[in-house]
Amino acid sequence: MADTNQRIAAGSAQGGPPGAFPDPVPERLPFARAASVLAVIVLAGALFGYDQGVISGALLGVRKAFAVGATALEIVTSWVTLGAMFGSLGGGYVADHFGRKRALLAAAALFVIGAAIEALAPNVPVLVFGRLVAGFGVGVAAVAAPLYAAELAPTTQRGRFVSSYQLAITLGIFLAYLVDQALAGASGWRAMFAISAVAGILLALAVLTALESPRWLVKTGRPDNARRNLVALGAENDADARLAAIKAALRAEHETASWSDVFAPRWRRPLMIGLGLAVLQQITGINAIIYYSDSIFAAAGFTTPAAQTAATTWAIGAVNVLSTFIAIAFIDRLGRRPLLIAGLIGMALSLAAVGFAFEQSGKIGGGAGVVTLVALVVFIISFAFSLGPVTWTMINEIYPGEVRGRAVAVATAVNWGAAFLVSGFFLTVVDAIGQAYTFWLFAAFCVLGLIWVYVGVPETRHRSLEEIQASWRAGA
Ligand code: BGC
Repeated sequence: MADTNQRIAAGSAQGGPPGAFPDPVPERLPFARAASVLAVIVLAGALFGYDQGVISGALLGVRKAFAVGATALEIVTSWVTLGAMFGSLGGGYVADHFGRKRALLAAAALFVIGAAIEALAPNVPVLVFGRLVAGFGVGVAAVAAPLYAAELAPTTQRGRFVSSYQLAITLGIFLAYLVDQALAGASGWRAMFAISAVAGILLALAVLTALESPRWLVKTGRPDNARRNLVALGAENDADARLAAIKAALRAEHETASWSDVFAPRWRRPLMIGLGLAVLQQITGINAIIYYSDSIFAAAGFTTPAAQTAATTWAIGAVNVLSTFIAIAFIDRLGRRPLLIAGLIGMALSLAAVGFAFEQSGKIGGGAGVVTLVALVVFIISFAFSLGPVTWTMINEIYPGEVRGRAVAVATAVNWGAAFLVSGFFLTVVDAIGQAYTFWLFAAFCVLGLIWVYVGVPETRHRSLEEIQASWRAGA
């Protein structure tokens, strides 16, 4: 232990060069603590995913209940994304000022209130209001939960901790697809929304039993509480040295950070990497496929609604969950870059194949359904072990402590904004240039993304948050 203390103290004293900062969080968390952090992140992710997935099944019932047309339905579908975009900006502020835990509690409360309004809505405007409130909660959680996980995870397992968030998103989507199937029917939609409140209540309970982030406590001038939490996280013998490491990293920064610090030239590189990943994750088409897979399968020759729903639930929903385990297994072993590079190659090739299948189906007929199905499965696998989890992991580890909450919020809001645009304009783009070219466009974005990742995105595996932060100063 004396060794660790010396190593930590030496790193802190130097206040900066990469490699000098040790991990403030002990390498092995006590089981109950690790479980509590994971419970928070898994429930927050499930809430996000359920919300993404549930709407496709609920829409039919909503249309029947209120006899509304396509525009109203589009608003019911997409305004949750708008709510989430604003929620993530607000979430960053709340997470920085009031703490990671309070932000998560606020998210849970908003989500439960939004779900109740949706489930009981007497008309469409009230339903849309409920979607906005729930979306706001999703946005707050989408910032606070991965941030919390990144700050509480031991360095060598950080990728795995934050990827559990992505796993939970995919589980939420899959569960929502299953609930949609089970409750399909005229009035099932109210229950579909009501069920989502359960995730919110469970999240609130998990947060109440969790520890606040020691990094946030130090940042806001509560070193004694931070020390207590470090001890509870397993640092009985070297809490002071670990505390010193956090303090030193914060001292190396400005005392107080403002919104303009997020955009300050010295942090431009991490800002661009986070924003680049946030946009790339969406413009390569994932949510066009998550939201519209039923219609894509219909266009590819799956004639009955039952066949389309089954293809969506299993080929998209279940494959998405299972493939995320690949990331959990390899993100800390191989690193972020190899996963991103391999995934983007798989995504580009499979999207090109979907485009090709659509182009050929017009000419020769038949066969396109199978090619599309196989290609979409390859696409989902490739996304699920790369851009899905790696985006959230890197957004939450690359920013310096002084602006972390707000910078994560900006990147998350940009991610939701891009999701809103892609899902909102997918059908319009298909109308304008046809299915084949739309998928080739997504494939082209993958190729551009691949080049950008190859030349511009550094590896962050096995480096503490403080080391990553110091590396921007050193120009690494
Ligand atoms: C993305 C979501 C997407 C989901 C699919 C997430 O990482 O942010 O927009 O729906 O992955 O699994």
